[in-house]
Amino acid sequence: MTEKRKRVKEDNTGRRELPIGVFDSGVGGLTVMREIMRQIPNERIIYFGDTARVPYGSKSRETVIRYSRQILRFLQTMEVKAIVVACNTASAYALDELEKETDIPIIGVVKPGARAAVEATCNGRVGVIATNATVDSGIYTTYIRQIRPEVEVIGKACPLFVPLVEEGLWQDPVTDEIAVRYLSELIDSGIDTLILGCTHYPLIRDTIAKIMGEHVRLVNPAYETALELKALLEEKGIFCQKPPALGENQYRFFVSDGAERFKHFANSIIKYGILSAKIINIEEY
Ligand code: DGL
Repeated sequence: MTEKRKRVKEDNTGRRELPIGVFDSGVGGLTVMREIMRQIPNERIIYFGDTARVPYGSKSRETVIRYSRQILRFLQTMEVKAIVVACNTASAYALDELEKETDIPIIGVVKPGARAAVEATCNGRVGVIATNATVDSGIYTTYIRQIRPEVEVIGKACPLFVPLVEEGLWQDPVTDEIAVRYLSELIDSGIDTLILGCTHYPLIRDTIAKIMGEHVRLVNPAYETALELKALLEEKGIFCQKPPALGENQYRFFVSDGAERFKHFANSIIKYGILSAKIINIEEY
């Protein structure tokens, strides 16, 4: 290690135990938080879910940017060492703007997902399922083509998956029926790789896998993002090696509404025993 690099790491020692800020439009980003918890278990995390203003997937770019800026300002008050935009829609519409407004290292879920899809595809045909906003933004296509310009990207918005997942219908004939309708055109298009480009979709991965068939690889941006986050923390010298102290509140949750409902859903995703979520007025930031 060069002297300069060593010094940077030493300078950052005090920052290692600061939390990572993770945010989403609501509960879906917990699938990203779950991956971070699995892959880098020593890290403290502050999660914010914008449960009062969800969904983002049907909102305009301007609105999603405004909401995301407010959340960034809230997380800045919590002294986070890095930020993960766990929401695909916010990553698609707002990440570039947020990067301009902060020195805190910040990553979204779209780039890691796009990169993994490029590595996974053999025939150069990649599908993306996501919210209307993410599909309309064309962001996955942009990132994929930056790496491999000849890749064909086929996007399909699947808006009903979000409420179906939130209703707990993860394995249900209704979800199967809707999934067949959404996915049949992707099957016909001959893709060999499919990006689960919305926070909720990993929770119905089995249904999607069954319909798409074995020859289609599913890419989970949540998993890829946790990998990228780990690499980023190491590169910046702020990766936390020390487990939290006994009784320390390692994971803290904030929402903009419906704390009880959030807590209930969160406990079905993260097997951690989430005891409380604090409501904040995000419009104040
Ligand atoms: N979290 C959103 C996403 O990943 C899905 C829910 C919403 O529309 O807000 O795009």
